[in-house]
Amino acid sequence: MSELLKYPGESSNDDLPPEGKAAAHSRRTFLFKLSVMLNVVVGSVLGVPLVGYLLGPARKKSSDVGSWVSLGSTSGFPVGETRLVDFQSPVSSLGDGETAKVAAWVRRISAQQFQVFAVNCAHLGCPVRWFAQSKLFMCPCHGGAYYEDGARASGPPERGLFEYRYKVDGDSLVIHAGDMPTLATQASCGKKPLIQIEPAAADETRTTPWQA
Ligand code: FES
Repeated sequence: MSELLKYPGESSNDDLPPEGKAAAHSRRTFLFKLSVMLNVVVGSVLGVPLVGYLLGPARKKSSDVGSWVSLGSTSGFPVGETRLVDFQSPVSSLGDGETAKVAAWVRRISAQQFQVFAVNCAHLGCPVRWFAQSKLFMCPCHGGAYYEDGARASGPPERGLFEYRYKVDGDSLVIHAGDMPTLATQASCGKKPLIQIEPAAADETRTTPWQA
């Protein structure tokens, strides 16, 4: 039968002398092993990143995402004041540059008592600003306002500012950073009454050119 399937001029192993058959067999074995090895190498190169991608979220869940980050000496935060700080995000990479810096508001209540707020408004995330005179955090986007303890004062936010966990380690104020504030994380939710912020009067006299 094999004779019928042969092309003209093609020889089969049956035509080879015993030494030729042995050489052909060892060549086939060598090529088979080579192809198996190549498959293993290519499979490893393609498979390892894929496995890492699939297992990544599970590994992250089992370990703590964030880590403790120092905001500097406690002496940099006078009692009764609220100050803006920035710190290097613990989940940043080398290519992140300046975007790896995260801002936070630090309020020092007493010698050992602090509040550290995320700058992001609890409505849609715009950065809030602290106004010491009125003792309010104000959001420039939709008029959200928060009391000095981060509790919601008025506007569209439905909750207070997000807070970081903190501890005083020796002389340093340290916060747990790296995990994004979500509805599951702590927020200020004091029971103060909501305040009504009046819109500016239409005929209000404008004295500075940039207010025109
Ligand atoms: Fe702050 Fe909307 S983002 S009020």
